[in-house]
Order: sequence, then structure tokens, then C-alpha cells
Amino acid sequence: MINVITIDGPSASGKGALARNIAHQFGLNILDSGVLYRLFAYFDILNVSYEEIASKIDNEINFKLEKDILKILFQDKDISFELRSEEIAKVASKLSSKKEVRDLLYDIQRNFYNSNGLVADGRDMGTVVFKDAKLKIFLTASSKVRAKRRYLELQNRGQEVNMPSLIADIESRDLKDSSRKLSPLLPADDANIIDSSDMSLEEVFSFTESLIKKEFI
Ligand code: DC
Repeated sequence: MINVITIDGPSASGKGALARNIAHQFGLNILDSGVLYRLFAYFDILNVSYEEIASKIDNEINFKLEKDILKILFQDKDISFELRSEEIAKVASKLSSKKEVRDLLYDIQRNFYNSNGLVADGRDMGTVVFKDAKLKIFLTASSKVRAKRRYLELQNRGQEVNMPSLIADIESRDLKDSSRKLSPLLPADDANIIDSSDMSLEEVFSFTESLIKKEFI
């Protein structure tokens, strides 16, 4: 598919920030597919049926990229912060292993593509949803580095955090994501693998920018 860039990788690898930067810089649409699983969890907790959830995500949710922040609006209410909670993350993780849920989200994800082009981040963007993307990136970093980044992020938000338990959480989520049967977390055969353990966000961005220029310009 022309004009599609996929960014897959484990949690806290920095793929969301990279995707938002690229979307902003190159004027592309953005799909944060993790947010769709989180929205599924948000409505599932409210006992909405799967079919209805898919229709709500399709018709009643607005995604607004403001510089490098992606806002999620439901009935004009900004629910971005709620979607980032641990409770939602846990339910989203459980739902993401169900075929019915993945199937319902497939078309919704594909519909984010239009003539503006798209940058899509998640776990299976390059392997399943946009198999035909022109540029695929698999962004990773060691679990210690990812835990440290998450630690600083949570601390900045004023949340209590404990480093050993963060590392354990990240490693158990990695194991679940990469060992599940459906759409496991894996780099596509034609993905560019970036290990950002020793790189800053700026370095990752400028390396990616050079890949984009080589591929598209
Ligand atoms: O990236 P995230 O933490 O917002 O993702 C939330 C959950 O959704 C996480 O458990 C992984 C899952 N997910 C998935 O299975 N496939 C995707 N393309 C994106 C996220």
C-alpha cells in the first residue's frame, strides 16, 4: 500500500511517540491501534456488546492529533486519560487475544487509511493489518530501558512507581504479546528493526526520517 508506514513493537518502546512525530511532521493520518483495543475494553466494562462496541468506535469516537498528543473524544468528552489506566490495559490485553475482537477491529483499522497516507502503530500493523505497507519499522529496546522510560513517565504524572515491579510487568506483557496464537508480536520479514536501547527519541526520529526519505522521496 502506498503511503503507509507501520511501527510495531513491545510496550513502552516509544512507538506511539515516534508515530505521532512522524504524523505531525509529514502530515499523515495516524492510527494508534492500541487505543482501539483500549476503547474496546472501556465499553466492555460498561457491558456493551461486541458488535455495538465496534459501531461506537466507528461512528462515535473522534481522534484528534494536537501536535504530539492524541486526544480521544467520546460524545465530546476527552477520555484519553481514562483509557491509559491499568484497569483498561488489563482488560484490553485479555480482549486482544479473542479472534472475534481482532476481526471486528480489522476493517476499522483499515479504514484509517485514506489519500493523506497513514502511520499506524501497534503489534501487528506490519504483519497482519497493513501487510502491504511500503515502510515497516519494528521498534524495540531492552526491558530495563523500557521500564526506566515508563518509570520516568509515571513519575512525571505524579504516580507512585516501583522499578522491579515495572520490569516484571513489562516482561510478562512481552511474553503474553509474543506468545499468543493470534497476531503475535513479531517483526514482519521486511521490517526495519530499530533497537533504541541506546538511542534518544530524537535519534530514533531522525533515523526513521532518513528511512522515510529514502523510501518515499
Ligand atoms: O499499545 P497499548 O498498550 O495501548 O495496547 C493495548 C493492548 O492491546 C495490549 O495488550 C496489546 C493489544 N494490542 C494488540 O493486540 N494489537 C495491536 N495492534 C495493538 C495493541
